Amino acid sequence: MNIGVATEIKPDEYRVALTPAGAFELTRRGHAVVIERGAGQGSAFLDTDYEAVGARIGSAEDVWADSELVLKVKEPVPEEYGRLREGQVLFTYLHLAASEELTRALIDSGAACVAYETVETDDGALPLLAPMSEIAGRLAAQAGAAFLEKPVGGRGLLLGAVPGVAPGEVVVIGGGMVGYNAAVIALGLGAQVTILERSIDRMRHLEEVLGARVTLLMSSSLQIQDSVAQADLVVGAVLIPGALAPKLISREMVAGMNEGSVICDVAIDQGGCVETSRPTTHSEPVFTVEGVTHYCVANMPGAVPITSTKALTNATLPYVEEIATHGLREAIARDPALARGVNVLEGKITYEAVADAHGLDYIPLDDVLRLSPV
Ligand SMILES: NC(=O)c1ccc[n+]([C@@H]2O[C@H](COP(=O)([O-])OP(=O)(O)OC[C@H]3O[C@@H](n4cnc5c(N)ncnc54)[C@H](O)[C@@H]3O)[C@@H](O)[C@H]2O)c1
Repeated sequence: MNIGVATEIKPDEYRVALTPAGAFELTRRGHAVVIERGAGQGSAFLDTDYEAVGARIGSAEDVWADSELVLKVKEPVPEEYGRLREGQVLFTYLHLAASEELTRALIDSGAACVAYETVETDDGALPLLAPMSEIAGRLAAQAGAAFLEKPVGGRGLLLGAVPGVAPGEVVVIGGGMVGYNAAVIALGLGAQVTILERSIDRMRHLEEVLGARVTLLMSSSLQIQDSVAQADLVVGAVLIPGALAPKLISREMVAGMNEGSVICDVAIDQGGCVETSRPTTHSEPVFTVEGVTHYCVANMPGAVPITSTKALTNATLPYVEEIATHGLREAIARDPALARGVNVLEGKITYEAVADAHGLDYIPLDDVLRLSPV
């Protein structure tokens, strides 16, 4: 198959969809891989690294015009809409429920659009979202610790403290992939960590893996209020799949926190779980409300592209290989997890939550496949 890797042109995005190691796995199986000139630069991969494993370097035109499968990291931006074409497969993060304009552009393109974030295994795991949640969770603790320093407006507190001084209090709301990873790093820094969760099974698992070093509490409005009031750093890490994040922390609760405390609302990409949150960028990551620093970067893994690019390719490559080896139709038939990733196919929305989000028609994937060849 002809596989193209486009350069990310979204501001502040330095990741690339394929590492040279990933490109090698594809070229050695006989696929033709073309990488857009400079695509790997932000992740410290040179064009020559790709050429050394048998990939070709080309222009954006070469990538989009010639490829049967286009790999990206972020959703296409308006300049890219016109480059997609009928019969082409696009494999990337799409987050279509958040953009009707993009959804309509993909419908008009006639391309098969497979979203990393909705590839879902039978047990409900999201294997292509998980690595970015791991990174965002770890970064949340790191960023939170940094913004607690006095010169950048923080309380002036070292999370881990020193012997003889009490450590800082970290409260994590939601003990899933982000929450667990935030807790691991905060514990490693020596902080006192509390996780609020609403799934008892998940709390049992967290106790098994984290032991007695962390306090696990059932999440309720009252508990959130009490815990947030004590916290130096709050990490918002809840997810209700497919839905906007619930606003669990009110402005009043924020106002009750100590001056210079930090809230890291990782769930901001789903609207945020704090009433006073709004999305920020890596160029301007924080703002202050009620004396509390808010860190609400919507694409946190973009800050560490060397790590994120490798973690992303580790997760996506098996699916890329499936599509490249069998073609999309056969790959979907073989792997239901990949089938759940198909959001738009031949001008039809095949993912129900996306159609619902915009009041557009939903056609089940099987019906589209039955009607026409991929
Ligand atoms: N900002 C970023 O760059 C970035 C990067 C990756 C993930 N995220 C976001 O982080 C959020 C968490 O992702 P995840 O992969 O950890 O999800 P996850 O499904 O692994 O975990 C979410 C957890 O929240 C819990 N939860 C739900 N409602 C709750 C409540 N009321 N109180 C306490 N816990 C509750 C669930 O039981 C679950 O354990 C998502 O919104 C995700 O999109 C953001």
